[in-house]
Amino acid sequence: MPLVTTTEMFKKAYDGGYAIGAFNVNNMEIVQGITEACQETHSPVILQVSKGARAYANHTYLIKLVEAAVIENPEIPIALHLDHGDSFELCKSCIDGGFTSVMIDMSSRPFEENIEETKKVVEYAHAHGVVVEAELGTLEGVEDEVVVEAGQASYTRPEEVEEFVTRTGCDSLAIAIGTSHGAYKFRPEQCTRNEKGILVPPPLRFDVLEEVSKRLPGFPIVLHGSSSVPQDFVAMVNQYGGNMPDAIGIPEEQLRKAAAMSVCKINIDSDIRLAMTANIRKHFAEHPEHFDPRQYLKPARAAVKEMVAHKIINVLGSNDKI
Ligand code: G3H
Ligand code: 13P
Ligand code: ZN
Repeated sequence: MPLVTTTEMFKKAYDGGYAIGAFNVNNMEIVQGITEACQETHSPVILQVSKGARAYANHTYLIKLVEAAVIENPEIPIALHLDHGDSFELCKSCIDGGFTSVMIDMSSRPFEENIEETKKVVEYAHAHGVVVEAELGTLEGVEDEVVVEAGQASYTRPEEVEEFVTRTGCDSLAIAIGTSHGAYKFRPEQCTRNEKGILVPPPLRFDVLEEVSKRLPGFPIVLHGSSSVPQDFVAMVNQYGGNMPDAIGIPEEQLRKAAAMSVCKINIDSDIRLAMTANIRKHFAEHPEHFDPRQYLKPARAAVKEMVAHKIINVLGSNDKI
């Protein structure tokens, strides 16, 4: 099947109490690892491209890699999404260039400006058969070039969501309930430690999610910053010469709970980076004589596939939903 929008995916996910994984893609191995996992688990998927990914790999290369995945996996519904679009022009360029979904992220701007800019993108996107994700509330961390410092993030205000969605006409809404971007989602002083000395973060604000869902019945909610930062990968990175002290993510059970509620899209990027880096470091440590990139990219790709399949089955619940 050709690239699809997220409309049908989200409707089924909402009704079925599961979520679709939105995985960031930057190169061929990542596209292959993700889509091979989807093929094996019979899961729909959103492949998302950030402004940084476009700057790194070039729009045409990324589009063609995704088109190749569509050809190789004809029975998997695949949507191609712009992650954190920061301007009308960027969104327009992706809409014109074949994306089926875009995010306009004006979450760091005042409410009225966010509405105005989002509405403009929605009008253009809908006229071209493309759907739009918008955001209310801010997450800590780096979203492309926008850096939100620790302590500067703000939870979504549920009392704003109906007006925002009605006035903008957006198709899905990203909200801030305590997730954040990157591999260091919480400072150690915000966490407790379990018996193994591993940091345990504070829970997500499910009360905010519930209140938002009550005000927007049937409307798909999106969670950014939802990597779990698997501690096995962190340990591997540290064992093989890396230095990632106290890296910590969102516990999988919390994401599973969100997926069973109104959250229909869960964004994962850092876990892909970690899976690849941990395995490449291990490979280099064990095979210092290797210099053919295929030798270390092959296990890196396999690790992405295994990690994504695990998420689909154990966290998102999107297996066997094609
Ligand atoms: O939200 C951010 C994503 O992880 C994309 O990151 O801008 O470094 O490609 P990037
Ligand atoms: P992570 O850094 O938690 O993987 O979040 C990715 C994301 O939200 C992409 O938009
Ligand atoms: Zn994000």
